[in-house]
Amino acid sequence: AKVTFNHGDGSVDVLDVDPGTSLMRAAVTNGVAGIVGECGGQAMCATCHVYVRPEYLDGLPEVSADEDEMLECTAEPRDDSRSRLGCQIQVGPELEEIAVDVPDNQT
Ligand code: FES
Repeated sequence: AKVTFNHGDGSVDVLDVDPGTSLMRAAVTNGVAGIVGECGGQAMCATCHVYVRPEYLDGLPEVSADEDEMLECTAEPRDDSRSRLGCQIQVGPELEEIAVDVPDNQT
């Protein structure tokens, strides 16, 4: 799946990500700046915060209660319509392409 990370300085990382991989894992594995993933993907740290580009919001899994709680703890302000935890979004047949904006700060 094609995953695009847009950074605040205008740089862009485009990855080809295997199915079943989360956005957080893909970013950390590939050295994408600005995604930390401190808790290892358990929705317990909020350092994998991303802003999903509006055109990709449809078809994402619902925000779970745990994710919703952690999204109140992000370093950069939550955007109610498009803030998500990168560890809670996996690419696969249901999600072949997504683009996100990476917050300037995660801690
Ligand atoms: Fe910790 Fe996503 S990696 S909440």
